[in-house]
Amino acid sequence: MKLGYIAVAAALTAIVAPGAVVARDSRTPIRVVTDVPPINGSNHNLSDPHANQAGTAEKRFLPDAYIDRMGGDEAMFPGKNRPAPRAISNHVFAQDQDPVLNPLDNNNFLWQFGQFLDHDFGITVDNDTLPLQPLNLVIPPNDPYFDPVIRPFMTITRQQYDPRSGILPAPNPRMSMNTQTGWIDASQVYGYGQTLPGPGPAGPTPGVLREFSGGRMLVDPDTNLLPRIQSVLPSPQFPSTLFVCGDFFPRCNETPGLTMIHTLFVREHNRKVAEYAAENPSLTDEQLFQLGRRWVASLMQSIVVNEFLPTLTGEKVAKYKGHKPSVNGRLGLEFEQSLYRVGHTLLPRELQRFGSPGGHSPLPALDLGESLFQSPNLFQTSSDLDALVRGFIRQPHEKVDCVVSDGVRNTLVVDQPGTAGTLFDLPAINIVRGRELGLPSYNLARVGFGLPPVNRFADAFDTKAAARLRSVYSNPNQVDLFAGGICETAAHPRSGHTGPLITAVIQRQIRDVRDADRFWYQNILTKEEIREVESYKLSDLILNNTGLNPDEINSDAFKVKH
Ligand code: HEM
Repeated sequence: MKLGYIAVAAALTAIVAPGAVVARDSRTPIRVVTDVPPINGSNHNLSDPHANQAGTAEKRFLPDAYIDRMGGDEAMFPGKNRPAPRAISNHVFAQDQDPVLNPLDNNNFLWQFGQFLDHDFGITVDNDTLPLQPLNLVIPPNDPYFDPVIRPFMTITRQQYDPRSGILPAPNPRMSMNTQTGWIDASQVYGYGQTLPGPGPAGPTPGVLREFSGGRMLVDPDTNLLPRIQSVLPSPQFPSTLFVCGDFFPRCNETPGLTMIHTLFVREHNRKVAEYAAENPSLTDEQLFQLGRRWVASLMQSIVVNEFLPTLTGEKVAKYKGHKPSVNGRLGLEFEQSLYRVGHTLLPRELQRFGSPGGHSPLPALDLGESLFQSPNLFQTSSDLDALVRGFIRQPHEKVDCVVSDGVRNTLVVDQPGTAGTLFDLPAINIVRGRELGLPSYNLARVGFGLPPVNRFADAFDTKAAARLRSVYSNPNQVDLFAGGICETAAHPRSGHTGPLITAVIQRQIRDVRDADRFWYQNILTKEEIREVESYKLSDLILNNTGLNPDEINSDAFKVKH
């Protein structure tokens, strides 16, 4: 089976060349965009023009741990002496207690923005060229959820990789390919030049998502929700009610929260272009579109470094000192394929919704597992969206710890809607991804990122986490990267959620992506424009694009509103 989403990487068409498309308008203080970021992510760093381009390889921060330093064969994966992924999941990640909420009063918007950011960064799809190289995750005999007699394995497929990697002469470790652009460029909103939704008479992004009037993005004219395939590009391959956005199709339908946040950002684009058009009616549709795109990409970047990262990790991002062409801005496998999946531990079992302000009119909560890929049915009107936004603001997220919600640990749906889905275990998949990509063990990664190795479980983990890890791993050197990372005690317990290793890796990755990108907002905007972007917070974006009242949200959108 194909995990997640059908591969449309091959459909990268209509690459927009960099260069001037609009001229500066001398009558307006609005600076029109003169150097448009290529839609496919190329040329963000002129000394490394293909870095983070859609369809190119990611990077490694640390040496690979494949036994043969190539990893083409499963027998060469690291961790031969480690327990099976589903067994680790049952012992370490299981939800056998009431959910433990985060101690800092942060809400579900934190992980929802985090997943939205991840979908800006990328997707690594399963390899669909023969031979498929399946990975069979053994279901243990005493599994509490799956019957190993009926289903002996949970089968996934190895990731798409650069065919020049994983072959002799070694060392030449296999490198995963990112289908999308790896920059923070709002590619999940505008696309990366791919054809939507799949083979057929479809047009490439971003054109297919545009109204071609007033610089606007397409929305449903009646509900102001995202457009559905039936109104954009009817395709016999997919249910006609699926929402369409710039992300890898049909990923913005994966969870209700994801559909919600995509809708907010498309609405923000349309709100802002209307503002630009009112300020200067002579701007063309193309000028307005590119201005709106620049605004939304700048907001993404600003929210990441000024709001999201400090809240998640408890650390400010290092001061910006300008574009650095020598920095390798590609996504690191240790980040994208393992430690940034930390968001999976923040997920709740249920998503709350409220029909009116002040926590009144609660609507039935959505079971996380059952709500996967149900967005097309769940969003019929704008009020459906507002109800979910209220829930995300009011509901605290779960603590960063070893525990992962059953909604994705036992009942993960990965197939596109319309096909007979089988249920999967997401944290077990995260473990096997670490191994198939030859990522270093937890302790090797700690050392690689300048942290002391953990000699006894009690050195880095609280009593409960240490007991869980000890129940499957014989010593700290055996621990897989993802498991050790999420189980660590918070590095800054009074201000952040993640442990020292995840904090170090996330901070490093965001710095690299920022410094290597010549389209970073602090590099391309004027001082006044930077001030405007930075003073416009996620809470402003939410208020301006929903029916919520100002007293329904804190200025810090990630704080629970009581
Ligand atoms: C209900 C919410 C979520 C669901 C259902 C979900 C599901 C998935 C699935 C199915 C995969 C592919 C696994 C694989 O084949 O290796 C994945 C990958 C990933 N997830 Fe999540 N996820 C959720 C939330 C999050 C959050 C909150 C974050 C981070 C803050 C996150 C970060 C990632 C990352 C970094 C990847 C790897 C992406 C790639 O490059 O392919 N996810 N997730």
